[in-house]
Amino acid sequence: MVVQVVESFTAPGMMSSPGRRIVDADGIQLKFSDGRVALCATSGLWNVPFGYGNTTVAEHMEQPLRSLHYGTLFRYSNDYADRAAQLLVEAVGDSYQAVIFGTSGSALNDAAVKFARQRAVLQGKAEKRIVVTFRGSYHGMTLSSMALSGERLGQAAFSVDIRFVRHLSLDDPEEWEHFFERFGNQVALVMLEPMLGSGVFEPTQAVLRKIAQLRDEYDFLLMADEVATGFYKLGTFAASMQWPRMPDLIGFSKALTNGAAASSMLLVSEESWSVFLEHDCPFMHGETQAGSPLSAAATIGVFDFMSQYEIEWHVQHVSEGIAATCANLEKQFHLAHRGRGLFHFLGWGDDAWWKAAAQDASGDPIWHIVDSFREHGVVVQPSIHGIQIIPQIVTTDAEMCQIGQALSETFEQLERSRPWK
Ligand SMILES: Cc1ncc(COP(=O)(O)O)c(C=O)c1O
Repeated sequence: MVVQVVESFTAPGMMSSPGRRIVDADGIQLKFSDGRVALCATSGLWNVPFGYGNTTVAEHMEQPLRSLHYGTLFRYSNDYADRAAQLLVEAVGDSYQAVIFGTSGSALNDAAVKFARQRAVLQGKAEKRIVVTFRGSYHGMTLSSMALSGERLGQAAFSVDIRFVRHLSLDDPEEWEHFFERFGNQVALVMLEPMLGSGVFEPTQAVLRKIAQLRDEYDFLLMADEVATGFYKLGTFAASMQWPRMPDLIGFSKALTNGAAASSMLLVSEESWSVFLEHDCPFMHGETQAGSPLSAAATIGVFDFMSQYEIEWHVQHVSEGIAATCANLEKQFHLAHRGRGLFHFLGWGDDAWWKAAAQDASGDPIWHIVDSFREHGVVVQPSIHGIQIIPQIVTTDAEMCQIGQALSETFEQLERSRPWK
């Protein structure tokens, strides 16, 4: 019997497609088992901004791999985790005092909710249990991170418990004001995506200012979920460094190891951690694979690579390149375009194209989109009514031209197949 490896978000009948079986990778290039080669314009689903097979990261992982490849943080510690934590805090450049390791973005967000609620209990404010996130947000797929996600992910089918979760607007400060007037004293945590990965929507400055003001009024923790936006995707190391007020918690995961090992790190501000220090109380959370020397060494490798790479110049250069590429395509094919930095969306304002694609693909249009772009030589992330493009920081000018060409050829083909024309 052939064992089926279950692919996420994929119907069993669509699994194991040779066109989507990745057999090799180099730099930003992916090779598939149908012989096709395509450039990765999703940064490996936001995980791989520094190239596949990055040798600096590999060299850093070599030493623990052959000796202390595992060392738990469950009542123990290790130097690799300490060093990785130090580097991450320095990169954000603010007063973060504690770091909680985990193994995924979803687990990180679960931990953040627990942290905020345990802090409230320690402060004698057990009534502070509510978590607020943006409508349309994505915070993961575990039961509690699904509850945090404002995007519709079929939560009801899993009896996801949303009793203490609320989703509010990206652009209406008054909605925040009204909600806090009624429930502010019950809020433990406000968890925000700096840019919504579900469709490249950004909160307005007015909403961010309002939340900063509410943070001063009501004693909740403000968290940036930087699982997707961290590592310069929006220009600065953490996107929340551009917010009117630095968050109390910042969560990183994707890109921490350039995709070489599963990891997440939650930075905790001095003020938030002080409550646990005062009570000398353990934070009741732990994953036995979190903060392993191997994954921490990969993070140290990522920082080493960045320090040798003129990282900010490259981020700026690739950001300008992809913005210009998208602006051209927007004009040429009358597309909707939004985004900034390394985070862009191109698509159609309505769902007519999707319906057409669905007819074409006799099923879920996502497959038609993914396959069409890949067949033209570029891997993109399907989005609502369009695609997302998240180029790797190491993308060269020549590769950017190739990405532009492949996108243009695919849009041209898709344009031709629009039956209403
Ligand atoms: C903003 C955000 N938070 C959380 C997650 C969940 O991360 P993971 O897939 O590692 O559980 C993701 C994944 O895409 C994400 O983009």
